[in-house]
Parts: sequence; C-alpha cells; structure tokens
Amino acid sequence: MQYWNSNEKLQQLHDEFIENTISNYYLPFGVAPNYLINGNLYTIPMAIEESSVIAAASKAAKFWLIRGGFKAKVISTTKIGQVHFMYHGSFETLKRYFNFIKPQLIKDTKPITKNMEQRGGGIIDIELKDKTKDIKGYYQLYATFETMDAMGANFINSCLELFAKTFRTEAQQFEGFLEVEKDIQIVMSILSNYVPDCLVRAEVSCKVEDLNEDITISPKEFAEKFIQAVNIAEVEPHRAVTHNKGIMNGVDAVVLATGNDFRAVEAGVHAYASRRGKYTSLTHAKVENDIFTFWIEIPLALGTVGGLTNLHPLVKLALELLGNPNAKELMQIVAVAGLAQNFAALGSLITTGIQQGHMKMHLMNILNKFEANDTEKITLVEYFKTNVVTHNAVVDALENLRS
Ligand code: MEV
Repeated sequence: MQYWNSNEKLQQLHDEFIENTISNYYLPFGVAPNYLINGNLYTIPMAIEESSVIAAASKAAKFWLIRGGFKAKVISTTKIGQVHFMYHGSFETLKRYFNFIKPQLIKDTKPITKNMEQRGGGIIDIELKDKTKDIKGYYQLYATFETMDAMGANFINSCLELFAKTFRTEAQQFEGFLEVEKDIQIVMSILSNYVPDCLVRAEVSCKVEDLNEDITISPKEFAEKFIQAVNIAEVEPHRAVTHNKGIMNGVDAVVLATGNDFRAVEAGVHAYASRRGKYTSLTHAKVENDIFTFWIEIPLALGTVGGLTNLHPLVKLALELLGNPNAKELMQIVAVAGLAQNFAALGSLITTGIQQGHMKMHLMNILNKFEANDTEKITLVEYFKTNVVTHNAVVDALENLRS
C-alpha cells in the first residue's frame, strides 16, 4: 500500500507505536514563522488537517512581530495523581495510619523517583482526602508531582500504583485498626488530566492606535469590537465553546507536532474553562490607558523528553525547529499558538467574516476532491481571486473549464 514507508526500519517503528497497525495515517506538517516570544524568534511546527489554521497563525505572528511580540510565562508546573480507595471505619484512625505510613509510601517509590529527583522533580506531597460526603466510604490519596521536562504520565502512575500497594498491605500490620478497618479496598490509581496548577500565561499588547492593519476599520473600533467579541465568549457558553475551539486549533496542532498527548490537553483545558461552574473563554482582552492587552491562561501538561519525543522522526524535527525547548518553553510556545489563533479568528470575525479566508483555503481542498490538474488549479486560483468561493461555484467553474 502506498502509505507504507519503504524504509522497513522506519515503518516498523510506526507499526509498533500501537497494536494492530494496518497503515500510516498522514496529516500535513507545516510551519508558522515569525513568532517573537519573550524576545526569541521561533518558527512553530504544526500538524493539522484544517485549512487556514497555519495561514491564520502566520498572519497573527507577523502582526505582533512588529508590535513587540508575545510575552509568555509559566505560572505553575505541578500535576496531581490519585489513589481512590474505600474504607469503612474511623476517620481519625485512618488519619493516624496515613501519617504513620506516609514516609514509607515515599520511601518505597525511591527506585522510580531517584532519576526524577536528580532532575529536580519528584513527589511534592501526598494528602489524605475524605470524600465520604460524595460516596460512602470513599477516600483518596491525593498526590502532587513535579515531572520537569517529562509529561510524566508513566512516572505518576507508577508512583501511585506503588502507593496503593504499600497502603493496602501495611494496613494489615497497623495496630490502631480494628480487624474490619484493615480491609482497605483500592479502586484505582491514576493521574488526573485536570492540571489547573500546570498553568501558563501568554499575552500581547500594543497602543490602540497600532491596531491599524485593516484599513476598513479604525483601530479604536477594532479594539472595541474585539473586546466585545471576547466578552461575549466570557459570558455565553455556546460562543465560548467555538471561541475556545479556535484556540485549540493552534494548541492541538503544536501539541501533535511535538508528540504530546492532545486528548489529555483537550480534557484538561475544557475542564479549566468550566472551573467556576460555567464554561467560559480561555482568553481575555482589555483597553487601559489606550493600551490594548489580550491574554490567555491555559493549563498545559507537556513533555519534551520521553514518550514519542525521541522516537518519532517528525517529532524530533518539530522540537529541533523550536530549538529543543524544555517543557516550560514548550508550554509558552503552545499557549502563544492558541492566543495567536484566537487573535486571527476574532480579527476576521469582527471584520470580513470568517468565510472569506476559509473558502479561499478550502478552494484547494475542493479542487483536489475533483482531481483538478495543475493547469486547472492555476487557472481557478486566479479566477477565484476576484470571485466568491462556494462549493458550487468551484464545481461549476471546473466543469466550465473542462467542457
Ligand atoms: C474554526 O475552526 C474556528 C473558528 O470558528 C473559531 C472562532 O469562531 O473563534 C473560526
């Protein structure tokens, strides 16, 4: 099959990422240049199937390149894992047992944590949580981790499974327990993809008068409409979901290109967007003293070591293109990609509308669907520079050309 790689070793590498591989599945791998982030210039790699995302990313990067660029900073980097268990007995006794066993829980994981500690990470704390208000007999070991440049899923889950084993086994010997209390039932041990304390902020700002790229709208009106659009996403969940989807166009594309787990990122980001009980915008905007500021705060658990990072050749290339960033730098780059994507989307929505740009990019997809040859493509791209792109218009124009 033509999607197999002719290099057998390379193909085998891909086959073995998963089970029952029957082929490779290609996505375009593109780049968005001109990203000035904290004074450093980046070309951002993106893997994505949706046309116009890279065009939007590149447009936003160029806009901000001459207006001071993006500023980004990591606010926090810790992650949570939980051992969920059932216990029926005195909470006071359980607390005593927990305080007694906690040093051993940590000690027993030393073979796993040794390397991570050398890199500056490890287990930060373990707490006992009483969840019996939610479910009778339900408690948690709630552990906080620092995983440095690794996404850390395997590290966290291995630590948790060891905590669970020690916690259950040693309960048999604990003298304070009644016989029935010794029977601690472990339900499961797993990291949480909700990472509100693995948070990054990215921001752009400029004088309102410098929002002057679009001649059809004054800078002041652009700022006003832009802020209205963000405010709407802040208060209106239907709009917020689409607004954030646009942000994730940028985020996911970089997360995927750099071999990170986009499902984990998606789950964590949307949970964060609903953290106050109502789904809301991840970005915010304001004008103060004639300065327009637009920013994002987003939880991102990312790794630049481990996982696919040193296996998949294109992930290696993506990280090389970014100058082999550490996890904190990658968090900043990804947050910027999300912010930039949102800036471009809102910029279009409040001016020309989104379809103009979208349909231009979509033109090539339609032409490919109808197997247009190179000459037909050149002719029709030229034709649609001055005509409105719709699916039917493209099909008609192609038919005209062919007849
Ligand atoms: C399309 O993929 C993304 C947008 O809908 C985002 C938005 O509406 O803000 C354009």
